[in-house]
Amino acid sequence: MTDAFALAETLAKHGQSHLLEHAATLDPQCRAAFCARLAAIDWAELAHPCEPPPIQAVGKSRVIGWEERQARAAELVPRGEAAYRAGEVAVLMVAGGQGTRLGSSAPKGCFSVAPHSGKSIYQLQAEKVWALSQRSGRSVPFLIMTSPATDAETRQFFAAHADFGLAPGQVRFFCQGTVPSLSLDGKALLAGPGQLLENPDGHGGCHTALVASGELARLIREGIRYLVYIQVDNILAPVDDPLLVGLTAAEGADVVTKVLEKAHPDEKLGHLVRVGERDRIVEYTELTPEQTRLTWPDGELIYRWGSPALHCWSVAFLARLAERGFKLPLHRSKKPLKSWPEPCTGWKNERFIFDLVPEAERSLGLVIDRREEFAPIKNKDGEDSPATAVRMASDLYARWLTKAGVRVALPPGALIEISPRFAATEAQFLARWDGRVRELSGPWYLEA
Ligand code: UTP
Repeated sequence: MTDAFALAETLAKHGQSHLLEHAATLDPQCRAAFCARLAAIDWAELAHPCEPPPIQAVGKSRVIGWEERQARAAELVPRGEAAYRAGEVAVLMVAGGQGTRLGSSAPKGCFSVAPHSGKSIYQLQAEKVWALSQRSGRSVPFLIMTSPATDAETRQFFAAHADFGLAPGQVRFFCQGTVPSLSLDGKALLAGPGQLLENPDGHGGCHTALVASGELARLIREGIRYLVYIQVDNILAPVDDPLLVGLTAAEGADVVTKVLEKAHPDEKLGHLVRVGERDRIVEYTELTPEQTRLTWPDGELIYRWGSPALHCWSVAFLARLAERGFKLPLHRSKKPLKSWPEPCTGWKNERFIFDLVPEAERSLGLVIDRREEFAPIKNKDGEDSPATAVRMASDLYARWLTKAGVRVALPPGALIEISPRFAATEAQFLARWDGRVRELSGPWYLEA
């Protein structure tokens, strides 16, 4: 039962009393539900969105570059491999986004993207976990975060495809929370009568949701120590990465963040930097074009290292944060909103997963080659679209084939697709390749 006086006081304090005026127009049942939701919201956090750090406080993070990667591979890969084989690794994929830019009303993961098989993004990601499980001899837990916008359809989609061959219980869905969107002057909006306008609370919602759903506790019970984090819309995101897991283990890191050289200073990525004693990721929206071009005296860009949103988290670290009740802050971005009675431009509020990084005592970056691991699908066409992503994947498979001694000379527009069930990594591909073709001069598809 909502305490009406306390609610009125809280709403007045945060400039949201108009919501009570709306509540008064509702029938008793709707009013009770509406007020219960209003009472559950943390209005204070909405009033204090996150600010970027002052530029003078920004320093260099420790990043494992190419030389160190290569020099330590013989130590790190077996270490990560042992963790996979001991059943200490799970995969977390966030899939709660609304995919507004892609313009599809279904969850992004349902989007059919593979050029020959027509497989969906969900299928490609699930088959990578399948391949990893086969290889490591472990039913690697595959956690999928949905949101109220994607939950039902995602579950149905996996059920309709028998979890893409994964073992019973291997796929674990959990649903993130929502937060109110606000008008530009900070007022909460409505989506309809008796309905607050809310949006999924960002990929950072996964920490709270992991805890609230009991999935974090379950991972701990199962002896999972490392969580490989990917986002659904990066079709090249690796889940089988012994070097990443091995580095997290060897360094006793709370988190390892993969980083890449930005294509140009204005590329729309977060940036791994050091602020004081801690690492931090500064989002591109928090920087001016002048700031993105700033350099150190040696000519290196201050915001050099872009983050493709690939991490390995220590489960113990996530558990420590949960124990102290840590809650990620909100960031605001200006967006067109489907408010009622009229749409408007306002603030969408979201938590970002990378705001966990400054909480980490031990954090470091690991350089990657974007051509191997980063093919995001954000837009319907143009850059970061299904077309660019499948082209990147095809180019990667062409390099695997070339390494295996195949002569690849494709006409423009021809695409190669290799099923993750045949090989999900270059190492698997080279180990399994049987020389079935010597030359490729047109579109090609390889299934298991
Ligand atoms: P984006 O921030 O790119 O957003 O998500 P989006 O929702 O996919 O697309 P737009 O901005 O509406 O066009 C990056 C990743 O974070 C997940 C998405 O599913 C994607 O994997 N995400 C985003 C969530 O899981 N929950 C959210 O609330 C937001």
